[in-house]
Amino acid sequence: MYRTHYSNQITEELNGRKVKVAGWVWEVKDLGGIKFLWIRDREGIVQITAPKKRVKPGIFNLMPKLNAEDVVAVEGIVNFTPKAKLGFEILPETLEVLSRAESPLPLDPTGKVKAELDTRLDNRFMDLRNPEVMAIFKIRSTALRAVRDFFHMNGFIEIHTPKIIATATEGGTELFPMKYFEKNAFLAQSPQLYKQMMMASGLDRVYEIAPIFRAEEHNTTRHLNEAWSIDAEMAFIENEEEVMRFLERLVAYTINYVREHNAKELEALSLNLEEPKLPFPRLSYDGALDILNDLGKEVPWGEDIDTEGERLLGRYMLENENAPLYFLYRYPSEVKPFYIMKYGDEPEICRAFDLEYYGVEITSGGQREHRTDVLEEQIREKGLSPESFEFYLKTFRYGMPPHGGFGLGAERLIKQMLDLNNIREVILFPRDRKRLTP
Ligand code: AMO
Repeated sequence: MYRTHYSNQITEELNGRKVKVAGWVWEVKDLGGIKFLWIRDREGIVQITAPKKRVKPGIFNLMPKLNAEDVVAVEGIVNFTPKAKLGFEILPETLEVLSRAESPLPLDPTGKVKAELDTRLDNRFMDLRNPEVMAIFKIRSTALRAVRDFFHMNGFIEIHTPKIIATATEGGTELFPMKYFEKNAFLAQSPQLYKQMMMASGLDRVYEIAPIFRAEEHNTTRHLNEAWSIDAEMAFIENEEEVMRFLERLVAYTINYVREHNAKELEALSLNLEEPKLPFPRLSYDGALDILNDLGKEVPWGEDIDTEGERLLGRYMLENENAPLYFLYRYPSEVKPFYIMKYGDEPEICRAFDLEYYGVEITSGGQREHRTDVLEEQIREKGLSPESFEFYLKTFRYGMPPHGGFGLGAERLIKQMLDLNNIREVILFPRDRKRLTP
């Protein structure tokens, strides 16, 4: 192995001991009788110090010839000294160049020379060498780990559903069609129908973390054509409130887990992530319309609240309720999909909710309609044909418990948590209207 320790693992107990470090050349400095080399690895930076009298001439002469971003491995002795900026240095005994970097670089990985987002995304591998950018993806990894842990702690079973499917679930306009031998198929917009079908299987509580595909035509800072969705479905619920209660605990757990495990990364991003307060406020659709009306924005009853409306509400809830996270619920049935249950006494409203984070929707969910005849009727009401949903409807005819769930957008969650302007920042290789490579 070329590496025995990452830069952050070199602690005072290692003083005087031999270690191997490896990474990319961050900087080289030649002061004549003494040469310095800083190597960057995933966890930080180490300083290699080469005083002429104490290192082999081969190493001493090679150091100034290194280029930024060459890949090198160094074996040497740890020396803790207040003279070194990081508190310690390594006196090299061997220095190996494992790979050379061409010059000029496509972008500056130190971030000193700012690059456009497009240039960064075209050169994502190098963009990630910037510790701030890498911090985002370390946090993404931690957050998804927290999500998984929380599901398992609460008795959820992980499932995997097909991504090549025959029917639209979230409306027909955002579908990517594809050829499937002699048939027409689509890329899945959501695991919606399949996770619901699992409620008839007895698995009871399921989750899936997988890509969803949406043919959104417009380039926005909150839409991707391929996004990762954290989907959950739970059986034997009495109402949508039970789903909301689970979701708010999941989101709070995830944010707190990141606070605890990513202190260094949050600092790199200059972010003070606050502990979320439970429960998140619940704001009814009617209540939201009243607030918007007071703010001078008219939304006719029965229409969806648009992006601007969401933003205004987000600001209002933050300023007046100190609530970055809050639920919108009791939506008009018209604006929500066929699978959402309506209220028995007020069928014009339904048991759907959205979770908003700083005025951006990060989750949709609700209680589902599990009575086959009512569900078939709701499919028809949306102008769809129950025949094309037969594989789904069938599972409702042989014992389907009341159930509900949600889809939480992984990128939306991370973007809002880290207060970033563009959703493309939080996915390695974004797919948007123009971008299909890398
Ligand atoms: P919905 O269509 O609202 O609901 O999607 C759920 C969540 O997924 C995320 N999301 C997206 N993120 C980035 N780019 C996109 N184009 C995109 N589209 C959606 C958002 C959104 O809140 N089946 C339901 C969920 C359910 O009821 O269980 C659904 O898909 O964060």
